Amino acid sequence: MRYEDTDKVLITESEIKKRTAELAKQITNDFKGEEVLLVCILRGAVLFFADLVREIELEVAFDFMAVSSYGAGASSSGEVRIIKDVSSRIEGKNVIIIEDIIDSGNTLSYLVRLLNQRHPKTVKVCALLDKPARREVAFEADYVGFKVPNEFVVGYGLDYNESYRNLPDVCVLKKEIYTK
Ligand code: IMP
Ligand code: MG
Repeated sequence: MRYEDTDKVLITESEIKKRTAELAKQITNDFKGEEVLLVCILRGAVLFFADLVREIELEVAFDFMAVSSYGAGASSSGEVRIIKDVSSRIEGKNVIIIEDIIDSGNTLSYLVRLLNQRHPKTVKVCALLDKPARREVAFEADYVGFKVPNEFVVGYGLDYNESYRNLPDVCVLKKEIYTK
């Protein structure tokens, strides 16, 4: 149910913790003296968000969005649907989108375009993981935790069919699990 469906641990809990602190420091320096609105993309980014925000030393507010691009499987449909929008007005604000992983790039390029239409001061993206080999649209995040190879990963918030989110490490899911 947990580790037995995975091939290996790709990134350990302690590596994540260390890198998260580095990203938070970078964000803290980049926005010194400013307020930021941190937008967590539900549900995969929840654990990363919770750990990251506690290391950011700025005036922050939280908001949440839920989007769907994947449905139930392991491959993207390419179209993005907003399930839940932010509750705050973002006009004039420094917005940082916190996401679990950039894969095809469809989700984040859509979200950045959408939020920019609302006249924020800035929109930046912080992603825990980046899988550049899978890109369908050009997209680069401002802050990236780790580049990962072209394999399906689960844990630390990331799921396959809503399972494995509570694994403390980022693990490679066995191919037989998502191809059966
Ligand atoms: P994109 O729009 O293709 O960039 O997809 C981003 C979304 O796909 C992420 O927010 C994840 O929910 C999901 N996703 C992409 N790759 C993986 C993976 O390896 N494991 C788990 N979820 C993934
Ligand atoms: Mg997700």
